[in-house]
Amino acid sequence: MNPLYLFYEKKRVGAFTPDESLRLEFQYDETWIKWSEAFPLSLSLPLQKAVHLHPRPAIFLENLLPEEKIRRTIEQAYKLPKDSPYQFLKEFGEDIAGAFVISEHEEAVSQAGQLIEVPLQTIEDAIEDGQQLYQSMTATYGTKFSLAGAQDKFCIVYQDGKVHVATGSAPSTHIAKVNLDFRNSQTVFNEYFCMKLAEKVGLSVPEVVLIPKPALLIIKRFDRTAQGRTVKRIHQEDFCQAQGIASGQKYEDRGGPGITRNYELIRQHSTQPIKDLEAFLDWIAFNLIIGNNDSHSKNISLLYHEKNIRLAPFYDLLSTTVYERRFSPDFAFKIGSTTRYDAIRRSDIQILEKSIGVRDGKFLKNMARISETIAAHLADVRASLEEQAPMATIGSRIEHEVRQRLKHFRKHGHIIP
Ligand SMILES: Nc1ncnc2c1ncn2[C@@H]1O[C@H](COP(=O)(O)OP(=O)(O)OP(=O)(O)O)[C@@H](O)[C@H]1O
Ligand SMILES: [Mg+2]
Repeated sequence: MNPLYLFYEKKRVGAFTPDESLRLEFQYDETWIKWSEAFPLSLSLPLQKAVHLHPRPAIFLENLLPEEKIRRTIEQAYKLPKDSPYQFLKEFGEDIAGAFVISEHEEAVSQAGQLIEVPLQTIEDAIEDGQQLYQSMTATYGTKFSLAGAQDKFCIVYQDGKVHVATGSAPSTHIAKVNLDFRNSQTVFNEYFCMKLAEKVGLSVPEVVLIPKPALLIIKRFDRTAQGRTVKRIHQEDFCQAQGIASGQKYEDRGGPGITRNYELIRQHSTQPIKDLEAFLDWIAFNLIIGNNDSHSKNISLLYHEKNIRLAPFYDLLSTTVYERRFSPDFAFKIGSTTRYDAIRRSDIQILEKSIGVRDGKFLKNMARISETIAAHLADVRASLEEQAPMATIGSRIEHEVRQRLKHFRKHGHIIP
């Protein structure tokens, strides 16, 4: 079977070579390794002349694919074998997370594609028709993007207040997310609320725009940057990719990394570890307070830029606990010995602080700071959501949920002094 080639702009970076059972090897091109600006595809696939043997290359690629129902729908529609990153990215590797383009051609493909406007009415009709947008955009416009995650979404260029899809290997600049498909989920409003709240609290987040009808969350991609009229790709990888872990293990209780290992990853590789470690702890505290139990290791990434490796802005922030049984009651990471927020004791915090090597009380201090700013901004973030989307009833549910959790942490958990 033919290799799949990896490109950064016009440069060939390396090749993935499959054997007959689709096991993948990866080797960097020598010219890439010798280039003074070269950077690795992943911390799990360091720059080296020697071949990277299976399974690491396959694991990295698998993490670029959509998950669960979205992956199954695309595989069935395009008659692709189940769970084959090679086959999937041969079809849909031209617009992926990070700086690279994947293609079966030996030479770099042109990044010139077409921008096609997608009227909001078309999107609304597709949603009302019960279609999966990821699949329907691919089928209608022949888009070539692949994006991780279990939620329905598609890659777009958002320009002058209009939604466009990019064809060929033209880079998308935004992600459009639609509501989760259970009745009245309002996840778009929920995520908008949480992203805006995070911004108020001082976490770094990408710019988000809310389109109330049809409910769409437009998220600016931090792995793209405009240089004049051209869009450049910036590299990123999530914490599963960086540690050679498959997407099926993104949760700690399925064998994935916990807080300590992720903290260590930042400590070892960030070019500004002090800032990024602090931001990581703030992200944990924020997620605990808003009830984002889905804050797993694919919901946090590293961004590679001009020889720097930094924690990427935070994304996919959602208060999942407002939905009660629809999402897991367990926090994605253990806090000391527990994943239940109402079972966290002082001793659990001490275990956490000890395991990451910070002084006693450090995490509590962060919790106190974050909770104070959250409490100060909850009402105005809700008001601004409701001003833009008067039909958003989830704002009051989130505000109630977060206030309950804050009260609990203050009273019973001894977590917030
Ligand atoms: N602003 C952004 N810029 C660049 N890449 C992003 C951005 N937001 C998300 N991504 C990438 O897209 C992927 C999917 O996004 P997101 O996590 O929001 O989707 P999801 O389907 O809600 O995920 P999950 O399965 O965790 O619920 C992320 O794992 C990340 O690689
Ligand atoms: Mg996600």
